[in-house]
Amino acid sequence: MNYRHAYHAGNFADVLKHLVLTLVIEHLKLKPAPFRVIDTHAGTGLYDLTGIEAQKTGEWLSGIGRIRAEPFSPDVAEILAPYLACIQSENPDGTLARYPGSPLIARSLLRANDVLVVNELHPQDHAELAGLFARDNQTKVLHLDGWTALKSLLPPKERRGVILVDPPFEEAGELERLVSGLKDVERRFATGTVILWYPIKAPRALDRFYTAIAALNLDKILVTELFIREPTDPGVLNGTGLVIFNPPFTLAGKLRTALPALTTRLACDPGAFHVLDTRCPPARP
Ligand SMILES: C[S@@+](CC[C@H](N)C(=O)[O-])C[C@H]1O[C@@H](n2cnc3c(N)ncnc32)[C@H](O)[C@@H]1O
Repeated sequence: MNYRHAYHAGNFADVLKHLVLTLVIEHLKLKPAPFRVIDTHAGTGLYDLTGIEAQKTGEWLSGIGRIRAEPFSPDVAEILAPYLACIQSENPDGTLARYPGSPLIARSLLRANDVLVVNELHPQDHAELAGLFARDNQTKVLHLDGWTALKSLLPPKERRGVILVDPPFEEAGELERLVSGLKDVERRFATGTVILWYPIKAPRALDRFYTAIAALNLDKILVTELFIREPTDPGVLNGTGLVIFNPPFTLAGKLRTALPALTTRLACDPGAFHVLDTRCPPARP
């Protein structure tokens, strides 16, 4: 296990993933019944943007750094508000020095009866994560293989909730595991929302993944992707993708409003574009 999220925290992929996570959680909060957030590949939960790892790549500068650099139009700002409030609460003096990962973002949005389950396999990252939530009786921290955790935690007793599946893609077969993970969730917790993350280097490498997702014949999915440049070099991270199963009915509309502004802000060249579709494979511009 070589992947450490500290090198990548706050990059453009985190921005889209964490925005979607906040929008899903905010939607769950519209009903009083408690819900559960499950994060199968959680990371450490909080990242020091002044630390060696973040400084080495500087990825956050062209991600959350750009998002915070200037205000957005009021309609986009309203959609980003819960996400940006989480970032602000970790940086109360206004200087961006810490970036909350998905566990802390989710935790900051929970009400008193909601539950968070976070799982991380890397021993050091797990220890940091466990330390972060040591005195929190609403958060359970696990040290399991994420794919095993996914099966063993379903269905949640609240029968409402969201599962984030965000593996590091350092081993072959992660796309196939995403598909079988989604199948497992659909079988055990058909009403739950699932957010699957995937990296995009060469778009054609995703063809089999899209075909496998389509073959699951799921009623309600939303696919969103953000490319920060024209994907001509298959050796770099050109885009970020999310498949969302059982998305809140408001999510597509919110992303339709926010994605053009996010794409413009995060673009590295004029070939940047975004994708939003309820079909898989999604239609690209
Ligand atoms: C992309 S990072 C997670 C980032 C986090 N979800 C966030 O948004 O802040 C992926 C994490 O998965 C962990 N990991 C790698 N293999 C794993 C496995 N088999 N089970 C659980 N966690 C694993 C890595 O150590 C890493 O911290």
